[in-house]
Amino acid sequence: MKKIYLFGNWKMNMLPDEGADYCRSLERRMTGSFYSADLVNICLFPPFLTIPATAAALPEGPVSIGAQDGFFEDRGAFTGAVSMDMVREAGCACVLVGHSERRHIFGETDEIVAKKMHKALSTGLTAVLCFGETLEEREAGRTLAVVEEQLSSAFKDVPHEKAVRMILAYEPVWAIGTGRNATPGDAQEVCSYSAERAEKEFGIKIPVLYGGSVNEINSRELLSQSDISGALVGGASLKVESFLAIYENYRKL
Ligand code: 13P
Repeated sequence: MKKIYLFGNWKMNMLPDEGADYCRSLERRMTGSFYSADLVNICLFPPFLTIPATAAALPEGPVSIGAQDGFFEDRGAFTGAVSMDMVREAGCACVLVGHSERRHIFGETDEIVAKKMHKALSTGLTAVLCFGETLEEREAGRTLAVVEEQLSSAFKDVPHEKAVRMILAYEPVWAIGTGRNATPGDAQEVCSYSAERAEKEFGIKIPVLYGGSVNEINSRELLSQSDISGALVGGASLKVESFLAIYENYRKL
């Protein structure tokens, strides 16, 4: 049985009290023998100011906390930015890098993503590199070319020994928050390409997650694909029931 990564990106949702309540509810509902660390790795990604309350209420078991972003400089005149050190000191084990919303709403380029990748890994964090094509790029038949560009740029400066702390997350832009997930076959094709590309670069197997309108109905088939190691979930991670059901519906296969 493969281990599943169940990652919940709360985006700009959840006040501190709500984050803590979520954790208490998670603790009550994570019952069953399949909630062991060798079967599932759950990570919650609250907004920065909700991290402390969530971290303090984090349940026992295979659950950790991550940040949705982190800057590539250590300190200085960067108003509004949060450094990777700050993220780690807040109790985060993990950080998302290059999420589609950071790229498209906040204008992050491949170059910025690469710098953040490098800083996250040198700070000792696990970096979850998010990448994926737009609808226009998919329709033009450019999906794998775009993925290749994003991956090769982000991989460029990563020392091989640090790649063990890297996770990939394929999130096609057109599938995020739209209710239209990639077909399991299409998601598998890109995840398989990305896994091979990473193995060629670093000589190790790096887990590849799929994200984009994952829910409890489509998770079974998506997570059953051989090169999909887990899900990066947005909307459906905001309620404990729908979040855990994504994993349970797969595990009960
Ligand atoms: P949705 O699950 O809401 O489509 O969001 C996916 C996502 O962006 C996770 O990072």
